[in-house]
Amino acid sequence: MEVNLLLDAIHQRYGYDFRNYARASMERRIRQLCSRIGCQHLSEMIPQLLHDDSFLEKMIREFSITVTDMYRDPFVYRCLRQQVVPRLKTYPFIKIWLAGCATGEEVYSLAILLHEEGLYERSIIYATDFNDIALEQAKEGIYQLDRMKTFSDNYKQAGGRASLSDYYQLSGKGCVIKADLKKNITFANHNLVTDSVFGEMQLIACRNVLIYFDKTLQARVLQLFRDSLAFDGFLCLGSKESLRFSLLENDMKVVDAKAKVYQKKVP
Ligand SMILES: C[S@@+](CC[C@H](N)C(=O)[O-])C[C@H]1O[C@@H](n2cnc3c(N)ncnc32)[C@H](O)[C@@H]1O
Repeated sequence: MEVNLLLDAIHQRYGYDFRNYARASMERRIRQLCSRIGCQHLSEMIPQLLHDDSFLEKMIREFSITVTDMYRDPFVYRCLRQQVVPRLKTYPFIKIWLAGCATGEEVYSLAILLHEEGLYERSIIYATDFNDIALEQAKEGIYQLDRMKTFSDNYKQAGGRASLSDYYQLSGKGCVIKADLKKNITFANHNLVTDSVFGEMQLIACRNVLIYFDKTLQARVLQLFRDSLAFDGFLCLGSKESLRFSLLENDMKVVDAKAKVYQKKVP
């Protein structure tokens, strides 16, 4: 009850709609925030939320889990290289939407893959998230040196053709992704719950985002992806996500069940 009131207040005051996020983890996070800021009851947060704009930022930070890695699940990138890239090579111009890009590690992984396959120059990647702080970090593309060992191992397992260190420069702030890899990437705020389609994509990757949504919201977002894909376009989901039992099952064929890669059927 109190959770519903709080989520309604966020929606009415700011237009952010968390009402269809997976309930259990959402409630846990709200309760954690509540005790951290010293409130006894969830409803005590409502006046703060209504009168203090900065409270929304706290909420978004709470609901936006930005855990990510470069070449996370390397076998997915192997599948993209082997099963998706050959089809992408047939297009003169390639549009890719990476939804829920968090701090950008996945975007640069894909940009490197496209570069190594000779496709980057004719590609544009729209990298979106609803978390502006994460998007700023994604745009900067600076990662801590101690994460690079894992990223490099993943890159090799993913079939990387060079050395990951070819794609970044060391600076005082960390490892900075080279500017050449950034030039065809457009970072933008897009909320999967409330914003609309992105047109005619050849590939949409949205990994490890749907797990935070309930069934109703998952169905809405999957429909959004179907409507944003060109015929023959590919959809890549996270390892715990799938199209099974969704309305899209008939519109999409399975390219690789383990990598969760699907392709939109031609009608
Ligand atoms: C766990 S990260 C996934 C990052 C990356 N895709 C990966 O698989 O490594 C989930 C991301 O989804 C974003 N997200 C959550 N709800 C969203 C929404 N309604 N619209 C857009 N992005 C959302 C979060 O801000 C977060 O950056």
